[in-house]
Amino acid sequence: MENQRPSWTSRGTFILAAVGSAVGLGNIWRFPYIMGQNGGAIFLVIYLLIIMTICFVPLVAELSTGKITQKECIGAFESVNPKFKFIGALNPITGILIISFYFVVGGWILNYICLGFSKCGISDYGNYFTQFTQAPVANCLYTLIFLFICMFFTARGIKKGIEFANNVLMPLFALILIFLIISSLQLPNAHLGLEYMFKPDFSKINPHMFLVALGQALFTLSIGMGALFTYGSYIKEDSSIAKSAYTIIFSDTFFALLAGIMIFPAIFSFGLQPDSGAGLVFVTLPYIFAQIPNGNLVSILFFFLLAAAAITSGISMLEVSAAVFTERFKLSRIKACVLLFFLISLLAIPATLSFGILGDMKIIGKTVFEFLDFITSNLLMPLNTFFVCILAGWFLKIKGETFLKNKFFAKVFDIGLKYAVPAILLGLLYIGLK
Ligand code: TRP
Repeated sequence: MENQRPSWTSRGTFILAAVGSAVGLGNIWRFPYIMGQNGGAIFLVIYLLIIMTICFVPLVAELSTGKITQKECIGAFESVNPKFKFIGALNPITGILIISFYFVVGGWILNYICLGFSKCGISDYGNYFTQFTQAPVANCLYTLIFLFICMFFTARGIKKGIEFANNVLMPLFALILIFLIISSLQLPNAHLGLEYMFKPDFSKINPHMFLVALGQALFTLSIGMGALFTYGSYIKEDSSIAKSAYTIIFSDTFFALLAGIMIFPAIFSFGLQPDSGAGLVFVTLPYIFAQIPNGNLVSILFFFLLAAAAITSGISMLEVSAAVFTERFKLSRIKACVLLFFLISLLAIPATLSFGILGDMKIIGKTVFEFLDFITSNLLMPLNTFFVCILAGWFLKIKGETFLKNKFFAKVFDIGLKYAVPAILLGLLYIGLK
């Protein structure tokens, strides 16, 4: 049983899980505030260009290497050359590091859901957010509960756990999103938010935007830590990777846009600023919820939506290491998950505490949380993406013509995979570490 590789029930469940992985905090929390800080519509134009073109290449590379090798990350790299297994091992390591800060935000979300239920009547959300994130016990508890929820689904395996979670949470997510968009668009002056999103001001363009957009696009598509690689390795039947890749890109972009359409009209309607950064969702929005009719219900729904998105992404991150532990080290899924739980806690707890009592513990001038974010976004994810492109293009010799009918596009894809995208990634690495 244990050493038989699991697989998806159908192409549909695979796509849903991959979209579930892609659509996460990156879309609803990160995308709107990054767009808000980078000039709105003009950033959107650049982002769309990048995600539709450059990102297609590493996305296909990750999915195909998984599908072709039918192995977990380390085994896949090892099957090409035993020396490469250390490169493969960077994927689950990156995954554990990402989880350790992503799940801290997951914990905040759980807290905010509970807050809605308690009809708390907080007036100063800015203050509340700072105080709450400093509280050690409650925060750690919420982070661990979030980890436990995701782990629960991973422990149940592909069909009973991962597919189940996505089949239930993704439709719920979409329904709540539609409801919240309708509510937001009915607020007075909602059109100002839409203008901010869709009327580009070309004078604001700057080169930094391209970097931010590429980083965000890779993150939101879950590229660079083996999540799609592992999901791709559970594909059995002969489905087109190119089609899957475009479905993932379109759905992810669609949901990021919908998140913007939900958030910006509300912000502009209340005359607030869209560039408040990471606090946009945790400070600015609750302030709005406190003022609208049925605000508590809207707040619960919104944070539930955020939790659903974060859980389906979190599950995909955990699966990378779960696959390595079960297939390579022949552990049962339950044992693998218990081990992972402890391993991740060791990092996630200091990351959680870095907003309070461990605030002074600095690594290269950054708190644990900032350091984990920095090292994964600026070093490990571009590096892993680079390696997967090299593996796919140079060693597995994946060719565009196998899945792209148009000869010209196939050629462009080949050049992209072997030269252009690896070069861009090296550039990203260089600038990110400078
Ligand atoms: N894409 C998810 C989001 O937008 C996060 C995520 C899931 C991720 N798996 C990943 C990011 C793998 C990088 C690598 O929130």
